[in-house]
Amino acid sequence: MEEVLRIENLSKTYKKKNNEVLAVKDISFKGYKGEILGMLGPNGSGKTTTVKSIVTIVEYDKGQIFVNGIDNKKHQNSVKQCIGAVLEGARNIYWRLTAKENLIYFAGLKGFGYKQIKDNLEYFLEKLELKDVANKQVREFSKGMQQKVAVACAFITSPKVVLLDEPTLGLDIETARNMQQWIKLIAKQQETFILITSHDMRFIENVCDRVLIIKEGSIIANDSVSDLKKYFMRKVYHILLEEDLLDEQKNNLEKGFRVRFEHTDKGHSIYLTLENDSYLYDIFEILGRKKQSIQSIEILNDDFEDVFLEILRRNGEKI
Ligand SMILES: Nc1ncnc2c1ncn2[C@@H]1O[C@H](COP(=O)(O)OP(=O)(O)OP(=O)(O)O)[C@@H](O)[C@H]1O
Ligand SMILES: [Mg+2]
Repeated sequence: MEEVLRIENLSKTYKKKNNEVLAVKDISFKGYKGEILGMLGPNGSGKTTTVKSIVTIVEYDKGQIFVNGIDNKKHQNSVKQCIGAVLEGARNIYWRLTAKENLIYFAGLKGFGYKQIKDNLEYFLEKLELKDVANKQVREFSKGMQQKVAVACAFITSPKVVLLDEPTLGLDIETARNMQQWIKLIAKQQETFILITSHDMRFIENVCDRVLIIKEGSIIANDSVSDLKKYFMRKVYHILLEEDLLDEQKNNLEKGFRVRFEHTDKGHSIYLTLENDSYLYDIFEILGRKKQSIQSIEILNDDFEDVFLEILRRNGEKI
């Protein structure tokens, strides 16, 4: 696999008068051609700081970043030319320009003329369903349409590295799903390395080949979605009873296990998250003290969101 991004021991502290925030602590990772890498983490964990350090907007204190083999501190301009980015909460496009003009303008900033991007221009306008509004000023667009133009601007020059900081923020479900398909297609077709941050777990799960989980500025997991699921997915047992448990039974379950109770028309549900199936014997010992009639037992699997929360929990987060 060809390496296109290398981050070595990156650290960044923001300094404000008497206050210091250590936003990124000694992180290292690599990115490869054609790969989609997701970056997940709670609010304030350092995702945007990392992205901004790569695009040279944030001046980092320690470490080195190589984009396509080029040191981004020593050669800022050359690095900017081989990166496309959509930054969180920023106005990534010019509102008084049309969609088409924005694409031409941002390509121009990187030294690309109209002829060089003509094919991409047609392709992105078509794929992102922006063809009919291509000649309208983007200030007239909805938030989602503006975001699509910003994403297209990041890809217009077919850069080796594209950074998307929360690209689906403000998009409706259908547009977000379409973008998902489209990003996957581009990464493979144009062999782009794409780094995506998002709080949308389904998006990350469906799109990313590999995921970094970052907590308080440190990387706590770096693996494929399927391996993370394999290592961290636990079983949830749902036991449905006709009659409610006694308080003593509930207390005993709560003392020893991660448990949740729910009462519906169907009966009294117990949801138990177990790391080890052998705990079932202890649970049945507790249930056996009153022998309420059991209507059903089913095993539910965690989803990727639960896996993410479990990884944070094991790293000291109180969830
Ligand atoms: N310009 C700044 N000045 C001072 N502190 C900052 C600045 N930008 C970010 N921080 C702080 O650095 C830490 C990391 O912030 P960052 O924006 O990188 O997190 P994030 O993971 O992108 O969060 P979110 O999921 O909310 O987007 C936070 O504690 C934040 O308050
Ligand atoms: Mg952020």
